[in-house]
Amino acid sequence: MTMNKEINYELPSLDAARKRNKERFVVRKDLFIIPEKARGIGHGRSYYLRTYGCQANVRDSENIAGILEELGYEAVSELDKADLILLNTCAVRQNAEEKVLGEIGNLKKLKRANPELLIGLCGCMAQEEGIVKTILQKYPQVDLIFGTHNIYHLPELLYRAMLEKERVVEVFSKRGEIIEDLPSRRFTPFKAWVNIMYGCDKFCSYCIVPYTRGQERSRAMEDILDEVKDLIKDGYKEVCLLGQNVNAYGKDLGMTEGFALLLEAVAKTGIKRIRFMTSHPYNFTDEAVKVLGKYDNIMPYIHLPLQSGSDAILRKMNRRYTASEYKELFDKLKKTIPNCAFTTDIIVGFPNESDEDFKATLEMVDYCQYDNAFTFIYSKREGTPAAKMEDAISYETKEQRLAILNEKVAYYAHKANERFLGQVVEVLVDGPSKKDHSIFAGYSKENKLVNFKGEGVQIGDIVKVKIEKTKSFSLDGRLLKG
Ligand code: 5AD
Ligand code: SF4
Repeated sequence: MTMNKEINYELPSLDAARKRNKERFVVRKDLFIIPEKARGIGHGRSYYLRTYGCQANVRDSENIAGILEELGYEAVSELDKADLILLNTCAVRQNAEEKVLGEIGNLKKLKRANPELLIGLCGCMAQEEGIVKTILQKYPQVDLIFGTHNIYHLPELLYRAMLEKERVVEVFSKRGEIIEDLPSRRFTPFKAWVNIMYGCDKFCSYCIVPYTRGQERSRAMEDILDEVKDLIKDGYKEVCLLGQNVNAYGKDLGMTEGFALLLEAVAKTGIKRIRFMTSHPYNFTDEAVKVLGKYDNIMPYIHLPLQSGSDAILRKMNRRYTASEYKELFDKLKKTIPNCAFTTDIIVGFPNESDEDFKATLEMVDYCQYDNAFTFIYSKREGTPAAKMEDAISYETKEQRLAILNEKVAYYAHKANERFLGQVVEVLVDGPSKKDHSIFAGYSKENKLVNFKGEGVQIGDIVKVKIEKTKSFSLDGRLLKG
């Protein structure tokens, strides 16, 4: 123990996070340990874990929950019942960060009422220099900050925060390893998230992810396949293969068709449903398209972020494709995968986006007629190249563009759903609908939310439903027998 506790802080560094090198990553199967002193520190204690952001965070939260439960903690769903509150955060846009800072502000009351309460922050915000500094200065109620590469070390960090009463900060920014031995408590039965790779090397100019999640590194194919096979044994029906850019799977392992090979191998395990997220158009190979068309257990649904339809903006975004290259890929996928559903991500109001640029985005939406699109106003992220770009476009204009875009997206979402009227779709049942317990909800192969009436249905069943009504963002139907 040092006298000055600040010496113990391991703070994030953007400069370190930006570095990339060609050395192979080490796969560690022995890194997770619970030190003797930390064994059972959760016994009789409870934790509340809130997850913000993307599926990578959800999967990390499953690992965090697994670790906490190995330490003896029990999950609770009310904040005021918890001895440990952890916020697993997202840094992709500023409004997500503001929400978290507001939440930490609210937690101050709980901390006052219960000084033994431990409050921790992890995930992508923990990787940001500016955020960590702000928290250290202005939010004394936060006891523990750890980064996306530090999850394996949680038992030790918790011990220090809880029993040595230290304020603990441990955020590595350098290349992480691939850690294979973390405990996990999956949050959903029948559907599982499976990481195939971590990090991102694309460096789109607006995006903070390559800094918060580090260098692209792929898990070994055998490890992924073993995980899928174990999931099948445990009764799982669906896996979603996760990565910031799944199409680059295996590049760091020297493979050129890594994703196609992996998809094919996962398809051959016989798991009922395979999905994957997120694709980057740049790395989408013909071989991968071919595999998608070949296997019935690969779902006909692709999330293919567009970001912008303007070549000038795409260039400034460092997206590495033009609008016509995107269209070419889109057409190829549509032709190869019958009835495939497509969704996308679009950013409006990138620095100095002109009316013509925006028009080009609207034209792409008309061309692709997406089943749905996640639309965002550009948010400046400190440390990214776009943060230094000049921007003369008013926020009001950006909001207007978002509204126009959203209207178009909703129009095509409704239109895309109409094609299901009178059709029979196959639904993996999630359970009773949130709004009405006499109705079941689940997702079709095309990733459409389907609500239906029926009897004798169990969570995890795959059933046939006839669609009787279509809405913009869901379908209603009736269970078919047998
Ligand atoms: N501002 C707005 N949207 C962003 N995204 C990523 N970074 C930003 C940003 N700085 C969006 C992209 C990405 C999705 C996950 O979030 O559209 O595909
Ligand atoms: Fe961000 Fe681009 Fe990587 Fe996606 S591909 S995580 S948008 S840098």
